[in-house]
Amino acid sequence: MALYPDELIQEICERNDIVDVIGQYVKLTRKGSSLFGLCPFHNEKTGSFSVSPDKQMYYCFGCHAGGTVLTFIREYEKYSFREAVEYLADRAGIALPTVEQSPEEKHKADLRSRLLEINKEAAKYYYFLLRNSKDQKGYEYLKRRGLSDETINGFGLGYAGISRNNLYAYLKNKGFKDEELNGAGLFHYDERKGFGDKFWNRVMFPIMDVNKHVIGFGGRVMGDGEPKYLNSPETMVFDKGRNLFGLHIAKSSRKDYLILCEGYMDVISLHQAGFDCAVASLGTAFTQGQAFLLKKYTSNVYLSYDSDDAGVNAALRALPILKSVGIQGRIIDMRPYKDPDEFIKNLGAEEYEKRIKEAKNGFLFSIEVLERQYDLTDPDGKTRFFNEVGKKLLSFEDEMERNNYIEAVAEKYMVSAESLKSKVAGFALSGIKPEEERVPIKSGINRKKKDGLVESQKLLLTWLVEEKGLYKQLKDYIAPEDFTSTLYKQVAVLLFGQLEEGSVNPGRIANQFENEEDQREIAGIFNARLENVDSRDDKIKAIKETLYKLKENRINTAEEDMETTDVACLQKLIEDKKNLEKYKDIRIYLE
Ligand code: GTP
Ligand code: MN
Repeated sequence: MALYPDELIQEICERNDIVDVIGQYVKLTRKGSSLFGLCPFHNEKTGSFSVSPDKQMYYCFGCHAGGTVLTFIREYEKYSFREAVEYLADRAGIALPTVEQSPEEKHKADLRSRLLEINKEAAKYYYFLLRNSKDQKGYEYLKRRGLSDETINGFGLGYAGISRNNLYAYLKNKGFKDEELNGAGLFHYDERKGFGDKFWNRVMFPIMDVNKHVIGFGGRVMGDGEPKYLNSPETMVFDKGRNLFGLHIAKSSRKDYLILCEGYMDVISLHQAGFDCAVASLGTAFTQGQAFLLKKYTSNVYLSYDSDDAGVNAALRALPILKSVGIQGRIIDMRPYKDPDEFIKNLGAEEYEKRIKEAKNGFLFSIEVLERQYDLTDPDGKTRFFNEVGKKLLSFEDEMERNNYIEAVAEKYMVSAESLKSKVAGFALSGIKPEEERVPIKSGINRKKKDGLVESQKLLLTWLVEEKGLYKQLKDYIAPEDFTSTLYKQVAVLLFGQLEEGSVNPGRIANQFENEEDQREIAGIFNARLENVDSRDDKIKAIKETLYKLKENRINTAEEDMETTDVACLQKLIEDKKNLEKYKDIRIYLE
């Protein structure tokens, strides 16, 4: 793939002002430092589509479309990257040279393919060990969990044996360099002991992208033990927010729907029972990137989450994310069983099929969950419940759709549709907004906390762009490594570089990522908003809290990954924890 040099692409973008270009397609009106209009990427009646001349980026607060002038042309005109560059170059009267890949780009592409090879070799190795290691623990475990040989083979399941550096030795022997192995996320490095396998004594679930490349692993302890699942960290080839376990098979399923579940074992059990359309997120909460991915294959998504509180809450968080890409998810009730795996084992595929047919509309499900918080036999409780329901109903912008839901709710709770309608109309008139449906992007298993953490990181990056002088005050306290995902780290490195040079341009940062999904996500990063933070003092307080959260998370992550026998590490951890408090006392001034 011949690519144009970054500098040239930057120049092309700079000579195509984003306001001029988008202005050709969308009617924009100035509001503060940005311009707003009706989003061309989703149906809406109020303008949540913003274009910022300062950031040279656009972002839709409704559907989260976003990016640079280049992204816009690609998305709107459905152009490839190259076509969009050529279009914009032509528009600005810039002649394009014919170019080859630069050595740096080549190195990056090479490293990516090496990492894919390492993952593939590792998968083959684990797969081999499952049947051929001295002990049969892995194989026996999977059998005990009811998996057939066909299923085990189909998913390429494996076993990381009891030894703690077999894989490393094996791959070294195959000629992989330490630099490459280090980037694969499959090894620990210790100054004294050198490299060691991250996974051992676990059954291994290879995680594949839609094109069947192995990009990472989940490893499960055989029996009880902590952590139950250990997952590969994000690497150059493993992006947890944009892949789904099982999608490489599910994408060719003959069923016209997809089933979204929580666990790898759930997916595998469902496939074995004939539901080859099941997928799961990767040990993290469901993300917007995954919603976009699903949407490529179907608009028909069933959620088969755990039936406990954590599962219900996770489902409630996934629904608005699905809705934002136009999918009205439906919820499969697993009760009285905990998850699809247990359900299938106890009641079988036919019963599961019935549950799919009876699946609840996501909105009605969220109303039912809400209902549990109120005493509907008490007139006051009932009123408060319907007030909340009314507010939720406001989230339907389309009048017909809203009325359909009003009628469904009215019928279910045996109240008059007319009075519910007038309640909703009353809310709309008095300017009450639908409950803000916040969309978490990436998060770990500790869901609530990690969702907050993603928001925090976005806020901090947005504020660093918008608040002049903030970077100078924070730079001694914050580093790109404090951010939790590869993308955020990369963005932080680039932004801090610009801030050091005193020329901030988020659009320029986004342009360095060729992937549209990255650009969309970066637009989101630089357009974070915090409700109810109006005064400067509030903002300062929020900045400090954000910083504290990031630092605290970094310590916690180190703690989770640490070998409990590593005394030096432990010492450092204790030291870091002590230092944590100082982030509360930093003095910050805003202009
Ligand atoms: P089984 O007990 O093997 O049936 O697991 P499950 O498939 O029922 O998974 P569970 O509902 O416990 O967890 C759902 C998903 O969360 C798993 O597939 C993992 O991706 C992830 N997960 C579970 N436990 C952990 C953990 O301890 N650490 C991390 N990082 N992820 C976990
Ligand atoms: Mn389970």
